[in-house]
Amino acid sequence: MNYKTILVEEKDQVAKITLNRPDKLNAVSPDVIAEVKDALEHIKKSEARVVVITGGEMEGKRKMFSAGADLTESGIDPFSPKLDQIRASSTRGQNMCDMIADYEKPVVAMVNGLALGGGCEILLACDIVVASETAEIAQPEISLGIIPGWGGTQRLPRKVGSSKAKQMILTGERISAKEAERIGLVNIIAPPEKLEEITMGLAKKLISKSPIILKLAKRAMNQGLETNLKNGLKIENDAFVECFSTEDVREGMQAFLEKREPKFKGK
Ligand code: COA
Repeated sequence: MNYKTILVEEKDQVAKITLNRPDKLNAVSPDVIAEVKDALEHIKKSEARVVVITGGEMEGKRKMFSAGADLTESGIDPFSPKLDQIRASSTRGQNMCDMIADYEKPVVAMVNGLALGGGCEILLACDIVVASETAEIAQPEISLGIIPGWGGTQRLPRKVGSSKAKQMILTGERISAKEAERIGLVNIIAPPEKLEEITMGLAKKLISKSPIILKLAKRAMNQGLETNLKNGLKIENDAFVECFSTEDVREGMQAFLEKREPKFKGK
């Protein structure tokens, strides 16, 4: 797969998508969105069992996950605003983040540096976030006279609670990786030189599980977050029953009884 704005590589059942616009600090333009979505479509059918999203390196500059939505290529002109274009721009970013959130394979954000605006919204859509100790995260849109438009106002409060989300979105202030871990925005923090190793260790753990059961667990949690507890428990009930239509449930239980590691086939 050859792309202009991202790099995609697959190794050991991990597909890595790298946002790669060094001259624009990995800002997410409409081209980036189209390419990320296209890559995810391809990875759906590939051998990869886990997707990792990260930011590309840039020489001589501080490490960046992403500087967020591309402010020059988004098709938005604040001086002559066209409301349909503005809505389309927000919808485009939301669609990419929804695709990540609903993706059937686990998606891990490997946050190697600053994650601003749309960068934060991408990591909010991911299932698990591993961040470098030197990373910082913010939703700085308020200082531009806008609000987050790719899911930030909705996913951030769901992830960290309304109190912290309001502080981040209303002040636009950056928080450190350590603080992000403390409030539950980041799962794991790693020294920069170990970020890749720790992320790949996590990916390996996920690969050792059944992909079908991972999909069911993820879907139950995602759907449950959008409803009340009673409906959520029904969703869990259905997904639990569905586990038993797989071969992997038998392999998991059998391996337990035989005191060995399971070998899931994804069937
Ligand atoms: N969209 C488009 N281009 C961006 C960008 C964005 N979100 N963020 C940075 N860039 C571009 C800059 O315009 C600059 O391009 P140029 O060299 O052609 O002028 C280049 O990336 C380098 O950025 P610069 O601002 O010079 O680097 P810096 O190290 O001084 O500052 C940031 C880095 C990230 C603090 C600063 O670029 C910034 O605040 N960006 C906007 C972040 C933001 O508000 N994101 C939310 C968008 S909704």
